[in-house]
Amino acid sequence: MPARIIALANQKGGVGKTTTTINLAAGLAERGKRVLILDFDPQANATSGLGLEKQAGRSLYPVLLGEASLDAMIVETSVPRLSIVPAEVNLAGAEVDVPRMDRYLQKLRDAVRPLADQDRFDLIFVDCPPSLGILTMNALTAADAILLPIQCEYYALEGLSVMIRLVEQIRDSGANAALHIEGILMTMYDQRTNLSNQVVQQVVEHFSDKVYETLIPRSVRVSEAPSYGQPVLLYDRHCTGAHAYRQLAREFLAREQARRAHDASPAAALSDAPDSAPAPDPSTTPA
Ligand SMILES: Nc1ncnc2c1ncn2[C@@H]1O[C@H](COP(=O)(O)OP(=O)(O)OP(=O)(O)O)[C@@H](O)[C@H]1O
Ligand SMILES: [Mg+2]
Repeated sequence: MPARIIALANQKGGVGKTTTTINLAAGLAERGKRVLILDFDPQANATSGLGLEKQAGRSLYPVLLGEASLDAMIVETSVPRLSIVPAEVNLAGAEVDVPRMDRYLQKLRDAVRPLADQDRFDLIFVDCPPSLGILTMNALTAADAILLPIQCEYYALEGLSVMIRLVEQIRDSGANAALHIEGILMTMYDQRTNLSNQVVQQVVEHFSDKVYETLIPRSVRVSEAPSYGQPVLLYDRHCTGAHAYRQLAREFLAREQARRAHDASPAAALSDAPDSAPAPDPSTTPA
């Protein structure tokens, strides 16, 4: 079975994209999945958060330009079954260089799909930067699905609507007709505040079953772990944050299983018909 490619994206900064990439990936690796993280953010937080040094030339940048193979960039981490393609600051150059190329929205897709088709990884997570630039657009064009972390705060819904509209545009334009929403994850939840509870309630009202039941609590241990180069699951196995991310890994897998069962059922072929309509040629899609 090909690896599923999931982009962790939100144009808003500091909402928990990288924290979720690292810790959900570690939680899934703990449960036996082979996971590859693509650090697609020039800030390289996923790289350093997993204890790896940034290294000039070792990132997706030369891969996007067609100057290196994706394979050559994969590094194992200290977490069994978890690998990463690191980032470094030169990756920012992709925002300038990639748009000059043909099929520039497809560059990541072209590089990662062949790897996904091999039996090496079960899941590929793309940690996106906080913008809707070329990197994020490439990630959303390459991905099967988007996982949207949002912070439990006042403007959460507004940011979320922007992302949902973008997913619809990408799907409708044919750039990635199969893109769907894997799930919406509420992060930095503080059960003591009314605001956190109100935001969760509002998001659930709007997006119902897209929202993970698992809420990620605000936890000092979660924010400390990256400076030790470890997922919180290893840094402090028993803290509330580690517990929550392990719970999220279980929920993620349960949903995956449910989706597979649904896709395999005869009724799915009928109910999903509009989504499987032939897509326009991506090469003629406007940017
Ligand atoms: N559950 C949590 N509890 C406490 N702190 C957290 C939690 N999740 C994330 N943080 C902290 O919040 C900050 C932002 O998190 P993170 O880097 O994961 O967000 P991001 O969306 O990837 O940010 P960027 O948009 O800059 O890439 C970090 O300092 C991180 O350690
Ligand atoms: Mg980040």
